[in-house]
Amino acid sequence: MKLFIAGHQGMVGSALVRRFAREPGASLLLRTRQELDLTQQFAVDSFFAAEKPDVAIVAAAKVGGIQANATYPADFLFANLAIAANAIHAAYRHGVKRLLFLGSSCIYPKHAPQPMPEDCLLTGPLEPTNEAYAIAKIAGLKLAQSYRKQHGVLFHSAMPTNLYGPGDNYHPENSHVLPALIRRFHEAKEAGRAEVVAWGTGTPRREFLHVDDLADACAFLLRLANPPDWINVGTGSDVTIKELTETVAAVTGFTGRIAWDATKPDGTPRKLLDVSRLATLGWRARTGLRDGIGQTYASFLAEKVAGGLRG
Ligand SMILES: NC(=O)c1ccc[n+]([C@@H]2O[C@H](COP(=O)([O-])OP(=O)(O)OC[C@H]3O[C@@H](n4cnc5c(N)ncnc54)[C@H](OP(=O)(O)O)[C@@H]3O)[C@@H](O)[C@H]2O)c1
Repeated sequence: MKLFIAGHQGMVGSALVRRFAREPGASLLLRTRQELDLTQQFAVDSFFAAEKPDVAIVAAAKVGGIQANATYPADFLFANLAIAANAIHAAYRHGVKRLLFLGSSCIYPKHAPQPMPEDCLLTGPLEPTNEAYAIAKIAGLKLAQSYRKQHGVLFHSAMPTNLYGPGDNYHPENSHVLPALIRRFHEAKEAGRAEVVAWGTGTPRREFLHVDDLADACAFLLRLANPPDWINVGTGSDVTIKELTETVAAVTGFTGRIAWDATKPDGTPRKLLDVSRLATLGWRARTGLRDGIGQTYASFLAEKVAGGLRG
């Protein structure tokens, strides 16, 4: 099996490389963005024509935080539409037998029921701060579904919850909550600070999946004879931001005080995926949050020493 992993240098892509490197019979086909810019239709088509992969996983995307999404909505919409359209169309044209497209839980409506089932897609308005990104991802997922319906190709999608793990982005302003906390508590410990001020009340609940569990779920989905068009991938359980913060503090060895600045926004009270469909099919996440954060902190330290910390 010749497997093309698009976006293999990203957090998800590198977890997929780790997972499929030990898959018997899999030969990995990898291109950096410099070697193959997936927004370029001709280049993508030529690549698929020449290499003829059997299977493709689309883990490449233009990803960013609230600020970047708000400032550059055209870039997020265009790049993600182009990546999805080019990869899916070229895969179809050049005989890819199976394609897995990565969506995201942020493409469900802002006021979706909790936990969020797969069929709440397109039932209400999106979260305005990442609307451009979400619309492009919804288009990608619908493209995969439409090619499957019209052409009979086995193209389908996975919808992961919030991910964390090796290779995460630790940008001080532009990173997700878990890597941001790891960086802040690590730096506070290093500087000997007595207090860290956390945003909001700490009461919102969020779900976190280790990226190696996601990669394992992708391998599982690619083995199903008749996978759903899209399926949620999460742990099925959530924690409060306060619990998460205290866990990160403990893992990093920060022994000072945690203060809560309740004047800062909390965001939506709960965001949890309904993972019952995937559980019924026979897959569950294995990594506990405390262990996963411990491993991620170890990777953070190693990446920092090697000078390869992102952000
Ligand atoms: N991280 C999460 O919490 C999360 C949660 C749910 C879903 N997902 C989904 O998982 C996928 C991957 O996310 P991630 O967290 O791994 O992001 P990431 O770490 O930023 O990785 C994205 C990868 O895509 C590559 N890329 C971007 N534009 C490209 C282009 N035009 N041509 C070729 N490659 C390009 C990037 O290359 P460069 O390194 O050169 O920029 C990078 O290697 C996305 O679809 C995202 O929606 C992520």
